[in-house]
Amino acid sequence: MTRVDEIGIGGLGASRRRVEDARFIRGCGNYTDDIKLPGMLHMEVLRSPVAHARIKSIDTSAAWAIPGVRLVLTGEMAAQRNLAWMPTLSYDTQAVLATDKVRFQGQEVACVVADDPYTAKDGCEAIVVEYEQLPAIVNPTQALAPDAPLIRDDKEGQTDNVCYRWEVGDKAGTDRAFARADKVTRLKLHYPRSHPSPIECCGSIANYDPATGKLTVYMTSQAPHIIRAAVALVAELPEHLIRIVSPDIGGGFGNKVPVYPGYVCSILCSILLGKPVKWTEDKSGNLISTGFARDMYFDGELALREDGRILALRFHADTDQGAFFSDAQPSKFKIGLVHSAFACYDIPVGHITARGAYTNKAPGGVAYRCSFRVTEAMFFQERIIAAAAADLGMDPAEFRRVNLVRDDQFPYRTPFGFLTDSGQYRRCLDLGLDAIGYEDFLKDKEEARLRGRRLGIGISTMTEPLGAGNSREYDILGIKMFDSAELRVHPTGKAILRTGAKSQGQGHETTWAQIVSHELGIPAADVVVEEGDTDTAPFGMGTYASRSTPVAGAAVSMVSRKIRAKARKLAAHLLEVSEEDVEWELGRFFVRSAPNRGVTIQECAMAAYGNMPDGLEPGLENNAYYDPPNLTWPFACYLVIVEVDPETGVWDVLRVVAVDDCGVRINPMIVEGQITGGLTEAYAMSNMQFMTFDAEGNCVGSNYLDYLLPTAWETPGFELHEVVTPCPHHPIGAKGVGECAAVGGPAAFVNAVLDALSDTGVRNIDMPLLPDRVWEAITTGRDVS
Ligand code: CDP
Repeated sequence: MTRVDEIGIGGLGASRRRVEDARFIRGCGNYTDDIKLPGMLHMEVLRSPVAHARIKSIDTSAAWAIPGVRLVLTGEMAAQRNLAWMPTLSYDTQAVLATDKVRFQGQEVACVVADDPYTAKDGCEAIVVEYEQLPAIVNPTQALAPDAPLIRDDKEGQTDNVCYRWEVGDKAGTDRAFARADKVTRLKLHYPRSHPSPIECCGSIANYDPATGKLTVYMTSQAPHIIRAAVALVAELPEHLIRIVSPDIGGGFGNKVPVYPGYVCSILCSILLGKPVKWTEDKSGNLISTGFARDMYFDGELALREDGRILALRFHADTDQGAFFSDAQPSKFKIGLVHSAFACYDIPVGHITARGAYTNKAPGGVAYRCSFRVTEAMFFQERIIAAAAADLGMDPAEFRRVNLVRDDQFPYRTPFGFLTDSGQYRRCLDLGLDAIGYEDFLKDKEEARLRGRRLGIGISTMTEPLGAGNSREYDILGIKMFDSAELRVHPTGKAILRTGAKSQGQGHETTWAQIVSHELGIPAADVVVEEGDTDTAPFGMGTYASRSTPVAGAAVSMVSRKIRAKARKLAAHLLEVSEEDVEWELGRFFVRSAPNRGVTIQECAMAAYGNMPDGLEPGLENNAYYDPPNLTWPFACYLVIVEVDPETGVWDVLRVVAVDDCGVRINPMIVEGQITGGLTEAYAMSNMQFMTFDAEGNCVGSNYLDYLLPTAWETPGFELHEVVTPCPHHPIGAKGVGECAAVGGPAAFVNAVLDALSDTGVRNIDMPLLPDRVWEAITTGRDVS
C-alpha cells in the first residue's frame, strides 16, 4: 500500500504550473471580444469632449442616415425606459447617457449600433452635440470652496459638492493622548489618481432573445452574480431570465467590478433591436472613463512618546470621487477600509474623519488591487511612520520594532474595532533586515555620502484586511459577502468544481484544484475548475480585494469535506465495517484495526453511482456557502535600496527585498508571481504613474504615452522571502496575498528616496517621484506636492 504523495498529486504546497496558461500562451484564450454570435451588431459610445457642460441639443439625424447604422441611442431615449440613470454600488446615481449635463470628459453621451464597429464609429462622429461649457472642478479644494459651481444639480437637496462624510474612532480620547505627547509628527500628502489599466478593456455582448425573453450577457466582470443582481433590480427582469457569463478576463485589478454605462447600453440596445449587440471599449475610453483608483489627500498626526512609543493617531482624508460616487465597497463603509490603517502597530487610540468631494473627473474609487482604499491607508501609515522615526531621531527599523503588535498580543483589537488574529511581525521585519544586510548598508550609505553619492533605504511594514467579509459587517447592495463552491465527483473519481469567484489571471483553475487535492487526495489534474457563468456557478460575490482565497477558497475546502463525509459512508459500506471504524488518510479510507484493508476515494466515487448502501442517496456532489468568521490578516515587510542622482533627480533601484506572510501557501509559485506583480505596480506608482487633468478637466493620462506602465526592462529584480503563520480561522490556514505588495510596496520606494535626501530637510514628495520633482526637492530643500 503506497501512500498518496500530496506534492506529487499537485496538492497544497505544490508549485504546480498554471493549467490556464496552456491556452493563454497559445493565444487560445476565450475573451469577450473573441465571442461572435450569429447576427451580432456592434456598438460604439460617443463620449463628451469636455468636462463640464450643459447639453443644449443633440442632433442624431446624420448618424441615422449612414447605411448600416441600426440604432442611435440618446439619454432621452434611455430616459423613456427609465434607464438614463442607474444606481451605483455606493448608493449614489450615475448617468447612463447624459441628458442634462456632462460632468466629466469622456462621459457617455450617446451610442450607435451598426453592422460593423467602423460604421458605428462613423455614426458617433456624425452626431452633433451642442454644449454650453461650465467651469470645471478638478480637485477637492476647488470642489469644496464656498462659491464652487454645483456639479450634482440633478440630486434633490444637494447644495454643495460633498458626496459623503465619515468618521470613526474616539475623538476625545485621541485629543487627550495628543495633549500628553512628547512630540507630534504631522504629515500631509496626496496619493495621486491612478488607473488599474488591465490589458483587456471592458466590453460586453448583450443577447436578448425575444422568443424566450432570456437575456444573456457575455462581459468582462469580476463579479458576475453582482451584475446579475444589479440588472435584475435596475431592468426589473427576473434573475432566471438573466445569464451573465464572464469568459477569460485579461486583468481586472478592481476596474471590472462596477457596472458601466457601456454594459447597460449594450443591454438596452439588444432589447430594442432583438439582436446580439457587442461593445468593445478602446484603451482611451477605458483610461478616461472607467473606475479610477486613489486620489486621496491625507493630513494626519502621530502622538509620540520620547522612548518611541506611539500614543495615538489621527487623520483627515479628502477623496476626489469624480462626478458620481460609484466606489465598489461594502455598504457600511463610505471610505472603504481606510480605518484598517496602523493595524499592525499597537496604538491605543485614534480618530479618523473623511469627506468625499464631487469633481468633474471620471467616477471610480475602485479597489485597485486592494481591499477598498487600504492601499492609500497603508501608504499614509508607512510614510508617517518614517517621518515620526526621523522626528524622534530613531532608527526606522527600531521604531517599528518598538510599536509592532507582539506575537503574544493576538488576537489584537485595533482602536477602530478590527480583530487581527495572527502574525509574526517582528520576525518578518528581522528576516527582511538580515536579507538586505541592514547594518552593513547603513555604513555603506555613510561612506557613499562622503563620496557625493546619495543612497537611501526605505522600509514598509503592514498588515491588511483581506477576505471581505463576514455577514455581520459586509454586504454589497444588501447582499452579504459570502462565497461558494460546488463540487461534483464523477464515477471514475474525476471532478468538476465551480465557485462564485472569478479569476482575471490569478490562477484559480490551478489553485482551487489543489485545495480539492489536499482535502480528498484526488490528483489536481483530475479536477477541472469553472467560474464566471451565473447559470452554472453557485452564487458568489466575485473576485476583488484578494477575497478569493479567504472566502471562495475556504468554500472549496468546506465542500470537499462534505464530499469526504459522504465518501466515508460509502467506504464503510465497501469495507463492511461501521463508519466509526473507518480512518482517513489522503486519498484513502482504511479499517482502523487493519490499515491494509482500504478503499481509495476513486473507489468510493464509483460506489456512489453503482454500489451505494441501502438508504444512501446516489451521487457524490455537494455545495458549500462560506461566511468567513473574520477577515484574514497577512503581513508584509518590504525593503528598498535606491541611489538618487543629485544632478538630475533620477533614482535607480538597487535592491528590493520582500518578506510576505500570507499564511499557508497553496501554490508557492503563484504566490511569488502575485508578489512580483504587486511590487511591479508599487514601483510604477512610486516612480511614473498618475492620471492628471488640466485646469479645464481634460484627462492628460488617456493613453500609454502619458500613463506609463513599467515593462520588464525598467522593473527591478525582487528578492522574495516568506514566513508562514497559518490563519487560525481559515480551513487550510491560508490568507489572501494578491494585493499585499501593491498595497505595502509604494511606501518602501518613496521612503527610500526620502532617506537618500534625509540631510535636505525634505519630508515629502508626492508620488510619482518623477526626476523633476526629486530634483526640485533637492535644489530647494522643500517638500514637493
Ligand atoms: O482574490 P484574488 O484571487 O485576487 O487574490 P488571492 O485570494 O490572494 O489569490 C491570488 C492567487 O494566489 C490565487 O490563485 C490563490 O489561490 C493564490 N494563493 C495561494 O496560492 N496561497 C495563498 N495563501 C493565497 C493565495
